[in-house]
Amino acid sequence: MSDFAATSRQEQRYCQLFASKVFTGLGRIVEFGPWLGSLTKALGRGLAVNPRIKKDLSYVDAFDRFQWDSFMEMWVQGSHLADKYRDAEIFVDEYKNQIRDFLEYVNVYVADLEQQGWSGQPIELLVNDAWKTVPIVRNTVSKFFPYLIPGRSHVIHQDYLWITESFIQIAMYRLREYFEFRSWIPEATMVVFRCVKELPELGNFFPEEYWELSQDEIEEAHQWNLSILPVVTHPCLKASKAWMLAQVGEEEAARLIFQDIESDWRSLETLFQFQKSVLCKMDFGQSMQLQDLDWCLKDCSSWEDAFPQEMKELKYLDGAMNAWLWTSRELYPTFIDLASERRLHYELGSSRPRRFKCEETGEWLQC
Ligand SMILES: C[S@@+](CC[C@H](N)C(=O)[O-])C[C@H]1O[C@@H](n2cnc3c(N)ncnc32)[C@H](O)[C@@H]1O
Repeated sequence: MSDFAATSRQEQRYCQLFASKVFTGLGRIVEFGPWLGSLTKALGRGLAVNPRIKKDLSYVDAFDRFQWDSFMEMWVQGSHLADKYRDAEIFVDEYKNQIRDFLEYVNVYVADLEQQGWSGQPIELLVNDAWKTVPIVRNTVSKFFPYLIPGRSHVIHQDYLWITESFIQIAMYRLREYFEFRSWIPEATMVVFRCVKELPELGNFFPEEYWELSQDEIEEAHQWNLSILPVVTHPCLKASKAWMLAQVGEEEAARLIFQDIESDWRSLETLFQFQKSVLCKMDFGQSMQLQDLDWCLKDCSSWEDAFPQEMKELKYLDGAMNAWLWTSRELYPTFIDLASERRLHYELGSSRPRRFKCEETGEWLQC
């Protein structure tokens, strides 16, 4: 059976390790937005080998509307679920089917997280992949977060570095006195926080509308996020700020940020390249003229001009070519396309389009 997932292997692995090695059973595991259960299954695999917990109890409370939406089709293409559900059709039975090996651990709730309350039990781990709207953020922080255990509980935000959901970064900035940063999962959007202070019921901690966020606060939240997250994530954080500025009407400032991101070799970072290729297909990406922005290497005729001294090789996902490319101090400006193993010679200085010559066939590629 296909493994349906809107999450990466690294993210699943992290949840599995957490459930097997860190979770003690002192509180519940709450999962927001499991969809077809890729992270529920990861948690289940971890719980199954966790020596500290009893095996025949449920530990996970999974909340989702379980209402199909046409955008979910992209994750089931080519499978028996393609075109199976109409918009708004309930798919909870398929979720239960997908997690059937671990169903004993899981209480499943068909619930709207804009309204849903909580039983009041302590929550030891909260896996969040449902902060898609501000009302969900406001409701869940007010109803669930007071039950996190200070010093023990962790919150895993699946989409923390997803550029178009950057209100999550601002929400955590507003909650910073209650949490400390713990980890970023490499090449993923997942970020983990630990609760360090009991939360009161924060009913209105986040505004209902983005425009109520001041530019000063967007900047402060951005600086805070830059200070806690590793440098490799910074292109995504900068783009996240640009997205939020565009939401509050500062489109020109946002455009300049995207240009600035491309002036640094770190824009080649995989997570940014991938999200850039997604943004390019959206109206937002077009209004930011992202398709016209190019990597910084266009001005770099030698490896030394392009990269820091200590860097010896580079592997990255080229969004425009939709390919993983690899090069090194010795090879540059030749790149290897890792899927086809073709050697592609980059025409130095070429930009819009960038030009690569395939060394085997002499064919020119433009992107
Ligand atoms: C990106 S999917 C989650 C992917 C999933 N975590 C996985 O492991 O593949 C987001 C999920 O959030 C859920 N969701 C969105 N808005 C919701 C709401 N208001 N209440 C409950 N669930 C919601 C959707 O139904 C969807 O299943």
